[in-house]
Amino acid sequence: MTDIADLTLEEKASLTSGASFWYTKAIDRVGVPSLMVTDGPHGLRKQREGGDHLGLGDSVPATCFPPAVGLGSSWDVELVERVGQALGVETSIENVAVLLGPGINIKRSPLCGRNFEYVSEDPIVSGVIGAALVKGIQSQGVGTSLKHFAANNQEHDRMRASSDVDARPLREIYLRGFQRVVEDAQPWTIMCSYNRINGTYASEDPWLLTQVLRDEWGFEGLVVSDWGAVNERVPGLKAGMDLEMPSSNGVTDAQIVAAVNDGSLEERYVDIAAGRALDLVRKAQAGAGKVEGPLDVDAHHALAREAAGRSIVLLKNDDAVLPLDASASIAVIGEFAEKPRYQGAGSSMINPTRLDSALDGIKDAATGTVTYAKGFSLAVTAATDEELAALRDEAVAAASAADVAVVFLGLPARLESEGYDRTDIDLPAEQLELLDAVVAANSRTVVVLSNGSVVALPFADKVPAILEAWLLGQAGGTATADVLFGAVNPSGKLTETVPLRLEDSPAYLDFPGDFSHVRYGEGLFVGYRWYDSRRFEVAYPFGHGLSYTTFAYGDATAAVAASGDIEVRVTVTNTGERDGREVVQVYTSLPTSQVQRPVRELKAFASVALAAGESREVVLTVRRKDLAYWDIRIDGWVVEGGEYVVDVAASSRDLRSSTAVAVTGDEVVLPLSRTSSLGEVFAHPVAGPIIQAAMAEMMGAMNGASSVMPEGVDMMEMMGSFPLGRIGMMAGLAGGDAAAGSSDEMIDGLIAAANAPQQA
Ligand code: BGC
Repeated sequence: MTDIADLTLEEKASLTSGASFWYTKAIDRVGVPSLMVTDGPHGLRKQREGGDHLGLGDSVPATCFPPAVGLGSSWDVELVERVGQALGVETSIENVAVLLGPGINIKRSPLCGRNFEYVSEDPIVSGVIGAALVKGIQSQGVGTSLKHFAANNQEHDRMRASSDVDARPLREIYLRGFQRVVEDAQPWTIMCSYNRINGTYASEDPWLLTQVLRDEWGFEGLVVSDWGAVNERVPGLKAGMDLEMPSSNGVTDAQIVAAVNDGSLEERYVDIAAGRALDLVRKAQAGAGKVEGPLDVDAHHALAREAAGRSIVLLKNDDAVLPLDASASIAVIGEFAEKPRYQGAGSSMINPTRLDSALDGIKDAATGTVTYAKGFSLAVTAATDEELAALRDEAVAAASAADVAVVFLGLPARLESEGYDRTDIDLPAEQLELLDAVVAANSRTVVVLSNGSVVALPFADKVPAILEAWLLGQAGGTATADVLFGAVNPSGKLTETVPLRLEDSPAYLDFPGDFSHVRYGEGLFVGYRWYDSRRFEVAYPFGHGLSYTTFAYGDATAAVAASGDIEVRVTVTNTGERDGREVVQVYTSLPTSQVQRPVRELKAFASVALAAGESREVVLTVRRKDLAYWDIRIDGWVVEGGEYVVDVAASSRDLRSSTAVAVTGDEVVLPLSRTSSLGEVFAHPVAGPIIQAAMAEMMGAMNGASSVMPEGVDMMEMMGSFPLGRIGMMAGLAGGDAAAGSSDEMIDGLIAAANAPQQA
């Protein structure tokens, strides 16, 4: 294919924006084809003609796999990669070059309207699951677009709001997952977000798009704007924003040409962006036709069902109410059973190849009587009180006559969507009233939830069993029946904490911000990092999820491997009578840390299949780089040395075995200055011994000033935060102006000696 050198300035500029809503530009003269890129992420949304932003247009049927909120809850890398492969297959068959996903933004607040499209409140889970999706999709010769880069954690005011976030949380929480996906899976493209970060639009931030993404992480692909995210095109291009989408109708291409011609933009920036566009074309051409159609609709539906079954989280199961006995009489209650809510609203809406309802799934699996009552109405026009009472009465009658009631509750579609956030985490009042009435009639009541982000569960103590079924894609209905009857043993775990009250959540006081600024006031303490460090009671903790079997954990061991990574070993036994899967989690903490840290942080996990009675040693790797914190003094990652506590756990609050491992830290030698504290000077390899001797002498000269101190008070510790540049003042107190002057010289000499390059 053609090279950048063959193109005119105008042609190169033309490659930096789209031809239309979903297509890049062709250059026929030199045989550069146009590429189609399209949503995503949990299925292919290829619109038949024209294009719109909101998912309104008709798109070709495609398998609707569970959205990230569901799939992520599987914590199952192998499964997620297989789903990725299937997504890649569908993308390839439809001649689409890039599937616009996955989305891995952190769920900072349960209120974010788009949480259903994101994986977790934790960056390791988000990064590992995101990388598996990218690998799977790209294995089929098509590209991905990792989004929305970065710190896009709310929908409110999303095209202007500045996420005002400190360096540590930005690096350790909001960017860490993106870094992992870039480093491990090299997505073909990354999509910059609409919002600003600390005042600068993501689409024109050279720090984000070039320094961090390329220079630090080694990103080799192309940066595409979110649809309409470009603010000023020329600064954006310079910052590293390669491709503007959708089309600007040539307006911004002309701006770029004009800027080169008037000397305000160096042509090399255009070359770089156009070169990346050509690279993308090369990759797409190399991968094109890798998969031949037609689509095996049945096989992909079966995979969607398997994935949905693994995404369901069994929150509670008292007295083994579940799995249901197939011969029991069952009252199925709640309109979601009949009309599944299986994906969220907005640009990610897939036109499914088929759609299973839980009601049909239950009827197929049951051998006893199944009755159905709507219970409430999902219609947009609110039902009258009389209508609701009638629906409730019908449901109560069904529940009273049955052995068990299965009540489907959830968030109506209008309550969570791309483009706006929720204002509370409550289920609609009529649903809660219905549930109360049903439970009063039949205490063997199972609740199944359909929601894209957490909801408060005020009924958690009143019902014996709860399934968190999230949004599960097109096969979620049958998958729910699979779990209800035990054909599938549930193994999903929460990737986000279920709080008792919205008011307890970390971002509560800083969401969604004022006047286009949202302060990330909770800092590092996002999700369980907050609830666990504050020791708040929660409804269900991060990482929680039950099974129809039970697992016992042996004693864990942890050792540092030659690579510097920590290898954690633990034997897990399926102690029950059913085959099952357990998601084993590893958390670390450093009690002696010199920096602020959450009480524990997830560092590794594994989903392990164990037959009834089977024992297996599970080996998990905590990467050394994941132990690092972002050190604002050196603007870099630092692994602190010390004895790390390693907890092997079934949730962030269900620690099964604890061990410790000594880790050698990175050496951080900071340049000394007059504002360095004496503590820092004491710890300095060169300056430390010199200053300690000088201080001892000075203390002597001060004639035993320490003797007036109460016994046990350590003068050195007391002086630890005293700035080096000010000790002249003390020397002056002890020995007059001359002493002060000479100690000033001594300080300058000390700083020079400390900062001089060390001999090898
Ligand atoms: C969304 C993206 C999506 C794009 C194209 C934007 O509004 O934020 O996630 O890929 O539209 O539909």
